[in-house]
Amino acid sequence: MTCCGKHHGVDTEPRAFAIADFWEEAENIRTFVFHGTLHSKPGQFCMLWIPGCDEKPFSIARDYDGEIWLTICKVGPATEKLFTLKKGDKIGLRGAFGHGFTILEKIPPAPFKKGEEQKQNVVLVGGGYGTAPLHFTGKTHAENGSDVTMIIGARSENLLIWDKKSEKSGFRTLIATNDGSVGVEGFTTHVLEKLISTEKIDLVQTCGPEKMMKAIAEMCLEKNVPCEVSIERFMKCGFGVCGQCVTETGEKMCQIGPCVSAQKAMSFSDFGNYHRGPEGQKVSW
Ligand SMILES: Cc1cc2nc3c(=O)[nH]c(=O)nc-3n(C[C@H](O)[C@H](O)[C@H](O)COP(=O)(O)OP(=O)(O)OC[C@H]3O[C@@H](n4cnc5c(N)ncnc54)[C@H](O)[C@@H]3O)c2cc1C
Ligand code: FES
Repeated sequence: MTCCGKHHGVDTEPRAFAIADFWEEAENIRTFVFHGTLHSKPGQFCMLWIPGCDEKPFSIARDYDGEIWLTICKVGPATEKLFTLKKGDKIGLRGAFGHGFTILEKIPPAPFKKGEEQKQNVVLVGGGYGTAPLHFTGKTHAENGSDVTMIIGARSENLLIWDKKSEKSGFRTLIATNDGSVGVEGFTTHVLEKLISTEKIDLVQTCGPEKMMKAIAEMCLEKNVPCEVSIERFMKCGFGVCGQCVTETGEKMCQIGPCVSAQKAMSFSDFGNYHRGPEGQKVSW
């Protein structure tokens, strides 16, 4: 840690936040609200400390208008403990950390086409809780004048999250479910493939299961569409000190990522295949 609790102006020691609100997004997926800000950019993450239990990394689903939102899936001891907490209970947050998603600059109107706005076409592809940080990303793109399409995937309708919020935010929202209970029957990749073949896309960004992101990265590289993915690796400090998240190329994922280009992701032999657990052991996706 650092002596003043800051690293490049970012909190490296937890600050206490009370749980202001929470609600269920789907079975075992809950969004938690805290009042304040981590001054984060879309795609960055924070470390959430659950007193007496553990500290874990989570993507920031919203950080504006005085509210921080984290959308969290209950998968093991720390998240189980978090789900027992009530409104008013305190946790610790530090961050924001890492390299977020690229936000496209607004295109200035061409002088010879006065008043005619040129828009960039951004497509965001989310699966599971990965959809939540993409909403923050989409909002920021939209503020910069881009058209935003959100492709959201889930196994079935009852596991879909953030689809209504996406529609409400004015994003073109396309759904894919494995069982066809809502939207297209199949995978988000099928929906993206169709879009790529029918329109010019300036940027694809994706967050979700790694196998899905790998398929998207491969498709975008083949079709020459710029693409970024958000890679989760085991993280402890979150800001480059502990070495827990080092890749096989010797880079620290908490610093170069979690959001990296498709080219960079494909240079990691583990991408889409396995990740490493707390003792460095290989764990298949
Ligand atoms: C950059 C980043 C962003 C993430 N964003 C979200 C999010 O928005 N929502 C969400 O639900 N989850 C997110 N995760 C995953 C989340 O950190 C794990 O689900 C959580 O740590 C599980 O802890 P647990 O004790 O409940 O379960 P465990 O049983 O300890 O672990 C369950 C799974 O989480 C992985 N995991 C455990 N500890 C860590 C750790 N310190 N770093 C990375 N992975 C770990 C394990 O390898 C295992 O695959 C993110 C992870 C990273 C690295
Ligand atoms: S999590 Fe410690 S160096 Fe990346």
